[in-house]
Amino acid sequence: MNAIADLFDLSGQAAVVTGASSGIGAGIARLLGRAGADVVVNYRSSEHGARAVVKELEDAGGRAIPVQADVSKEEDVARLFEEARRAFGTVHILVANAGLQRDAPAHEMSLEDWRTVIDVNLTGQYLACREAIREFRRRGMVPETCPALGKIVSISSVHQFIPWAGRVNYAASKGGIMLMMQSLAQEYAHEKIRVNGIAPGAVKTNINKSSWEDPEAERALLDLVPYGRVGEPDDIAQAALWLACDASDYVTGETIVVDGGMALYPGFREGG
Ligand code: BGC
Repeated sequence: MNAIADLFDLSGQAAVVTGASSGIGAGIARLLGRAGADVVVNYRSSEHGARAVVKELEDAGGRAIPVQADVSKEEDVARLFEEARRAFGTVHILVANAGLQRDAPAHEMSLEDWRTVIDVNLTGQYLACREAIREFRRRGMVPETCPALGKIVSISSVHQFIPWAGRVNYAASKGGIMLMMQSLAQEYAHEKIRVNGIAPGAVKTNINKSSWEDPEAERALLDLVPYGRVGEPDDIAQAALWLACDASDYVTGETIVVDGGMALYPGFREGG
């Protein structure tokens, strides 16, 4: 192994990735596994997708297990971590990724659609972070494996700071995630738990398929992306790998925006 690969070496460390049966979560699970981590591939409904990610990791010589759990349910999240402990002994890394959208104009949005998005995106990340922190503290420091007690990567969105009409529930959940991530980072840094976020822009996954699947929609989307392409799950996974590994050991409470420039107010290139 060369020195650069050493920087990203996660062998001996176990990771839980929520919402890992497809999209960004699957991309992150694959890359952490390729870096040597044991991976818990969490899914809510797509067992098929989760098993495909697990198989890919096993075929490459890694260790991975699929675990069904709805992150918005306290008992499911407790079980997710129990199964992680049973399989791999402990957890060093949580990637809190599971999320969804239920779009509607604010005046027409049902309370159910508001609650579902807050419950999964925000409360779901909180429950997973709480369980991860409990596990990090239970295990205690093992400096030979990892200089941190534990590492959390919270997958947010550019909509943690860009308002988004028609998605008040989603933007509120992502804004909440940002301050939750920073507050947890502040609360646990002295225990050597690092908590960071990634704010993806437009990434080709099922959540936004209608915005890129036909060329006209994709053109309209690209008006918002100065870098001129829609992101891929690997664009996010590569940032997640850096935050999860020990090359970023001095980084906590930070958000990496991975968006092809979407947050640079592209309309101002010619306007303003
Ligand atoms: C949303 C996508 C959207 C992107 C950029 C993401 O957080 O889930 O639907 O394309 O932000 O607006």
